[in-house]
Amino acid sequence: MPLLKTFAAVAIATFVGHSLAVPVVPHPSVANDLVLTPENTLSETNPYRNGPHRNGHKIPASSNSAEELSVSVYNNLQSDSMNAYVTGLDPNGILVCLTPGGSWFAPKANGSISGIIPQIITEDIAIPMGDYGTNTSFTIPSYVQSARIWFADGHLKFYTGLNATGYLTLVEPSPSNQHDPSANVNWGFVELTTNSDGLTVNLSYVDFVGLPLGIKVQGSNGTQTALGVPADAVSSICSALSAQASSDGQPWDKLCISDSSGNALRVIAPYDYIQQNPGAFASYWTRYISQVWAKYSTTPLTIDTQAAAGLVNCTTLGNSTLTCDGDNRPYERPSAGDIFGCNTGPFAIEETDNDVHRAVVPRLCAAFDRSTFLLRGGNVQPSLDSSHYYTTSPTDYYSKIVHEQEVDGRGYAFAYDDVNPPDDDGSNASGLLNDPDPSLLSITIGGPTS
Ligand SMILES: *[C@@H]1O[C@H](CO)[C@@H](O)[C@H](O)[C@H]1NC(C)=O
Ligand SMILES: *[C@@H]1O[C@H](CO)[C@@H](O)[C@H](O)[C@H]1NC(C)=O
Ligand SMILES: *[C@@H]1O[C@H](CO)[C@@H](O)[C@H](O)[C@H]1NC(C)=O
Ligand SMILES: *[C@@H]1O[C@H](CO)[C@@H](O)[C@H](O)[C@H]1NC(C)=O
Ligand SMILES: *[C@@H]1O[C@H](CO)[C@@H](O)[C@H](O)[C@H]1NC(C)=O
Ligand SMILES: *[C@@H]1O[C@H](CO)[C@@H](O)[C@H](O)[C@H]1NC(C)=O
Ligand SMILES: *[C@@H]1O[C@H](CO)[C@@H](O)[C@H](O)[C@H]1NC(C)=O
Ligand SMILES: *[C@@H]1O[C@H](CO)[C@@H](O)[C@H](O)[C@H]1NC(C)=O
Repeated sequence: MPLLKTFAAVAIATFVGHSLAVPVVPHPSVANDLVLTPENTLSETNPYRNGPHRNGHKIPASSNSAEELSVSVYNNLQSDSMNAYVTGLDPNGILVCLTPGGSWFAPKANGSISGIIPQIITEDIAIPMGDYGTNTSFTIPSYVQSARIWFADGHLKFYTGLNATGYLTLVEPSPSNQHDPSANVNWGFVELTTNSDGLTVNLSYVDFVGLPLGIKVQGSNGTQTALGVPADAVSSICSALSAQASSDGQPWDKLCISDSSGNALRVIAPYDYIQQNPGAFASYWTRYISQVWAKYSTTPLTIDTQAAAGLVNCTTLGNSTLTCDGDNRPYERPSAGDIFGCNTGPFAIEETDNDVHRAVVPRLCAAFDRSTFLLRGGNVQPSLDSSHYYTTSPTDYYSKIVHEQEVDGRGYAFAYDDVNPPDDDGSNASGLLNDPDPSLLSITIGGPTS
């Protein structure tokens, strides 16, 4: 089966017949059950060549210690079998995985040609973490982009293959595929990029909430933190989603995945659930969208682009599409999946889209997920602070409930969670930290220590 041919088509084909039962329990399986989506694959940006750097420990590209990033991990989970994995692209766009020895490993395709089943990476890329209550340090030796530091209570399985245009592709654990070979493992990740501008690192709950992680960056900008969620976050979120499902009849409870003993393991985002269950939430937003469309047929919706275009007025002229001044194309009414995922339908950004369009999309989608369009002041987006988010129904209850769990309210729960009003008082919902000259990235596994 041509698993790597077209990710979207494969995802749909593979999900057919796997309707989720209640309680949702993962059934880890073999490579044949991998489901490839943009969320769990990372393709090299360099055409694949089986060059001399392949399948060997690559000496760090730079001996410049300024490129190194020190990482310290505190294990606050009552587990003594924790491992870390670091994956990403080096500055040349080559896929790299950090080895326990501290150097990069550049996997090769292991005989793969386009269209065959991905092969497991057999090289040891698990970095053992210390027992509960201890710190473990390691160094990321050189610049890395689109990188993730994964943590697992046990081991994760990574695969490589070639995508249809011949680029080496890393196939990572998927939180939403019940048959993923790592499905029964409690895991999570932080995303980061290091380059000459410094370190950018974030906590993301855009796709799921799993193993609780918190981040701290120390460097020339002082100390910045995103504390993440507490140790029992997954079960608390599952309870809240269950209550919401009882109250509005929507399948919020189905977002919760339990392990084979019935313990809540992770919570997947509604977009990912809809990918597997296309009818889910289908009419959830319909009435709200009609109200938004009606309101902005008589009064302009003003988008603050927070960029050169300044304030841009939009209107639902003729009642079908929303049209914005200076924008190269209008917006159709979104589906539920479009709203939760922010990257399909009217929110899909095309290469030819102009700056106004690129500024409007995130602000429109954020206003839907946070349900701020019909509030007083909602005619200017963004303008209301986070105390107004998720205050009316329908709303993105996954995002609302995840943010309620976040110890400091920070951490993306949907793709455009970094949209904030211009006079943001620090209530910046994103869990993104950056420092031009980082000295230490500290990560806590298993919830904050106090
Ligand atoms: C394969 O990966 C490359 C690099 O990320 C990308 O440009 C290309 O579109 C991908 N091909 C397919 C068919 O997805
Ligand atoms: C390549 O894949 C095969 C089949 O999964 C595996 O047995 C072998 O160890 C792999 N080799 C490398 C170098 O990863
Ligand atoms: C772990 O490291 C942090 C600093 O990152 C330090 O405050 C703490 O005391 C250390 N804990 C242990 C048990 O070594
Ligand atoms: C988080 O960081 C990664 C790596 O820098 C970046 O690619 C990704 O877009 C960020 N996520 C969000 C939701 O901004
Ligand atoms: C970090 O410090 C630099 C230099 O002082 C400054 O330009 C930048 O805005 C700061 N960034 C953050 C996120 O505080
Ligand atoms: C946008 O709409 C506001 C509110 O009606 C109005 O005051 C403003 O003049 C409009 N701006 C433009 C450029 O049309
Ligand atoms: C606009 O659409 C709504 C919902 O479909 C409908 O109730 C309303 O009559 C329409 N208004 C106009 C002016 O067409
Ligand atoms: C929110 O925080 C991120 C990361 O620090 C930053 O890039 C963004 O500009 C902030 N947004 C606002 C409106 O302050």
